[in-house]
Amino acid sequence: MDPKKAFLIEIQPVGLQFEQVAGMSLLQSGLRAGVRLPNSCRNGTCRTCMCKLSTGEIEYQIEWPGLAREEKAEGWILPCVAEARSDLVLDVRGAVDLKAG
Ligand code: FES
Repeated sequence: MDPKKAFLIEIQPVGLQFEQVAGMSLLQSGLRAGVRLPNSCRNGTCRTCMCKLSTGEIEYQIEWPGLAREEKAEGWILPCVAEARSDLVLDVRGAVDLKAG
């Protein structure tokens, strides 16, 4: 992987975009860019942030994110403990553009 390449995260259906910041979770990267995804614990247990990965590759920062194997297979991810490994499209209900208004 080229460390200088920033992966683009696209949030649907709202159409927001931000870049993965190296070493940060998707959630943190979004917040830094003014995009708030639903969240609570931020450590991969509460599942508040759970959303669907439409396209792309992620990697988890922790060993046991709180998802069942079936959920993972269906494309559900926990963005508070995940980092992008490619450009991503995420299906997120309740994403907020903090820069708007
Ligand atoms: S915010 Fe709790 S699992 Fe992601």
